[in-house]
Amino acid sequence: MNLILLGPPGAGKGTMAFKLKETYKLPHISTGDLFRAAIKNQTELGKKVKTIIDAGDLVPDELTSAIVEEKLNEKECSQGFILDGFPRTIPQAEALKNFASIDKVINFTISEEEVIRRLSGRRVCRSCGESYHTEFIPPAKEGRCDKCAGELYTRDDDKIEAIKNRLSVYNASTAPLIEFYEKEGLIENVDSSPAPEEVFSNLKNLLSK
Ligand code: AP5
Ligand code: MG
Repeated sequence: MNLILLGPPGAGKGTMAFKLKETYKLPHISTGDLFRAAIKNQTELGKKVKTIIDAGDLVPDELTSAIVEEKLNEKECSQGFILDGFPRTIPQAEALKNFASIDKVINFTISEEEVIRRLSGRRVCRSCGESYHTEFIPPAKEGRCDKCAGELYTRDDDKIEAIKNRLSVYNASTAPLIEFYEKEGLIENVDSSPAPEEVFSNLKNLLSK
């Protein structure tokens, strides 16, 4: 199963990708996570992309597509994969066609008000990457991950100015992918406004069809 998770920032792509990965044993490739790891490790890539990501702008297409192509060529992706946050532009989707075939594109739908609520309260585990929310999905122990006891932190791009910019970048550059994949007959819409368990149950039903 080769899947793309599409949807605005904060729609719950990462949250659902973690559940899919556990249930279907598929590798999860999040371009955002790859860039944040590069920033944390202060690699050349990390230095190049830090200011772009903190502002909520997009990393250049060629650079991003090359990173994903390399990942998908790894052996662990040969039996399927979950792409989270890629492609994000039409040129990225065109590039992807040259190195992978896609079975389904899950388009998570959510209002902008809810996106702002979700991202303003998000906390992420520094060790395993699991997402929490101070109000909606609180960890059992404040500031610590339920799964690995790692420290929870707030992403630099979860500040209100960067959230608003990410939303406008999404509307201008990423939303056109819905029509792009509709034309290919691959889009499956999933309402991501209910609680995570309900969203995941709907997603599993859809994938079993
Ligand atoms: P990326 O990391 O992909 O960020 P994003 O698209 O802005 O998406 P988020 O990770 O913010 O949201 P999500 O949908 O994963 O939601 P989550 O599950 O965490 O990219 C970051 C940056 O990297 C980009 O801005 C760009 O600069 C760069 N980049 C990445 N890919 C790129 C590309 N292809 N091209 C160019 N540049 C690229 O959930 C959000 C919150 O809501 C959490 O707190 C969670 O606990 C909570 N939540 C989740 N589901 C529910 C629910 N059902 N009910 C209540 N709360 C929920
Ligand atoms: Mg994410």
